[in-house]
Amino acid sequence: MKPKQTIVHLPVYQPGKPIEEVKRELGLTEVIKLASNENPFGSSPNVKAALEAEIANISLYPDGGAVQLSEAVAQSLGVATNQLIFGAGSDEVILMLARAFLVQGDETVMASHTFPQYKHNCEIEGAVSIEVPLIDGTHDLDGMLAAITDKTKIVWICNPNNPTGTMNTDAEIKAFLAKVPAHVLVVLDEAYCEYNTTGQFPNSIELIGQYRNVIALRTFSKIYGLASLRVGYGIGHPDVIRSINQVREPFNTSRFAQAAALAAVKDQDFITSCREANTAGLQYLNEQFAQLDLHAFPAHGNFIMVNVGRPAADVFNGLLRRGIIIRGGHMLGFPTSIRVTIGSREQNEKFIAALKEVLAEVAVQA
Ligand SMILES: Cc1ncc(COP(=O)(O)O)c(C=O)c1O
Repeated sequence: MKPKQTIVHLPVYQPGKPIEEVKRELGLTEVIKLASNENPFGSSPNVKAALEAEIANISLYPDGGAVQLSEAVAQSLGVATNQLIFGAGSDEVILMLARAFLVQGDETVMASHTFPQYKHNCEIEGAVSIEVPLIDGTHDLDGMLAAITDKTKIVWICNPNNPTGTMNTDAEIKAFLAKVPAHVLVVLDEAYCEYNTTGQFPNSIELIGQYRNVIALRTFSKIYGLASLRVGYGIGHPDVIRSINQVREPFNTSRFAQAAALAAVKDQDFITSCREANTAGLQYLNEQFAQLDLHAFPAHGNFIMVNVGRPAADVFNGLLRRGIIIRGGHMLGFPTSIRVTIGSREQNEKFIAALKEVLAEVAVQA
């Protein structure tokens, strides 16, 4: 029994280390996870009641089309419901995009380094990934344009980019889209867009109205704090959404996910408070990194990548021993950097205290 040829070389996804595993392995009672860009403040208090009410319906299949949720999200964004597609996380929307649009031999363009699920899903479909190096941690949009050929089907732009946290502005994305051929679908992955405070973030809803070949991806896993429930969505032209719906599994988002997301989207005060706390946390970390003479990429989401000037695996392990889980850049293409999620004030302070100890014990990389 042989699996299909396009998957034999694929690595199995390595997630951030789970808290329970670290506690068990290291005999720690308190562990802080700043590794997966989750919301340190949880989710809207309204979510709990919505989930409790949904328990009465667990024997019933969910609404495959997520009608109620679609209506609420459509209204909040000012789009039509046939412009939305929901998935089990935006991960599943990425998978469905690859499944709907790519065949063996197609080309797809993305940054190096960026969110790994684009390449992963494209390769499963047998497409060739053309990776365009980042410039100073930011998407090189001119380089990506130059990489487009007649065979290109999808261009992926992660904005802000995971793992570097950098962003491309509205003006940059507009100039880029004006030059992208109409046969190419441009995916704007905006998993962290709600954290943005620059006033320069692309207005993707407006862009989707203007370009049929643009789809934006959003998620309830980050600022909405529902990562465990797996719900994300795409916003695009109805024709693009219809194609994705054709490959969607019938009941891909659960009743709990839909009910929680519905309650969460109606509580925008919670989102505002999380954004404000994130901005304050980011400012604190940037000040601390500056004092430690460490260079960080400009961060526009709820995480920051900082160059610690030492082997990332050693810094990762040093922090882990102190009960702090972050992402080592050695896993992400940045051997002397770490990626850390902005936590609560207390978590950020504990992280910085631990980092200072680790920097003192790990030798600087020559
Ligand atoms: C850029 C980006 N896109 C998509 C996802 C997937 O999120 P989810 O499947 O939880 O919606 C993540 C998760 O870390 C991400 O960082």
